[in-house]
Amino acid sequence: MADLVTPRLRLRRARPDDLDALHVVLSHPAAMRYWSTPPHRDRDQTAAWLQGMIAASPQQSDDYVIEHEGAVIGKAGCWRLPEIGYILHPDVWGQGLAREALTAVIAHVFAAHPVAAIEADVDPRNAASLGLLGRLGFVETGRALRTFNVGGEWCDSVYLSLARP
Ligand SMILES: CC(C)(COP(=O)(O)OP(=O)(O)OC[C@H]1O[C@@H](n2cnc3c(N)ncnc32)[C@H](O)[C@@H]1OP(=O)(O)O)[C@@H](O)C(=O)NCCC(=O)NCCS
Repeated sequence: MADLVTPRLRLRRARPDDLDALHVVLSHPAAMRYWSTPPHRDRDQTAAWLQGMIAASPQQSDDYVIEHEGAVIGKAGCWRLPEIGYILHPDVWGQGLAREALTAVIAHVFAAHPVAAIEADVDPRNAASLGLLGRLGFVETGRALRTFNVGGEWCDSVYLSLARP
């Protein structure tokens, strides 16, 4: 599968040597505040997560590591189609990089997979993620209470969808 290249980013498949850079992101409390798990405790946890990303079936998964200026800054894509997920290191937030990455991912997913829509599941407190998805044209389709227990804290879900253009 070809990389996705945007003006500032290269999105490519995950590799084992992405472990250290991804662990920095996935162990960061601010980046993980509204993730579906607490921040990763150790590199072994990130290694298992990374192995799942590398081993995922291309029929079921279309996920990318994001490189910016030669460094891995996060991930974006569908670990399980058609649900989208993304996380960037807080040092690079607020520069339009997530929007740039997701614009490329969304176009690719609709071109490569027979999905009617791309879906998202967001904690209602996650203003950045909801703002990003709104900017990309996602619309809310529903809500549910107490959908995830993350480290002992019950979290709710907002469901959003972007229909195939
Ligand atoms: C969500 C996240 C990827 C956004 O990354 P980012 O690179 O800062 O986002 P961008 O700079 O591309 O912003 C794109 C749009 O998102 C919205 N947005 C971004 N940050 C926002 C914030 N703090 N509050 C409200 N809206 C925000 C804006 O609409 C923005 O559009 P604009 O550039 O026209 O103003 C980033 O905050 C992140 O990694 N969060 C932690 C992981 C996470 O929560 N992932 C989602 C789980 S569902």
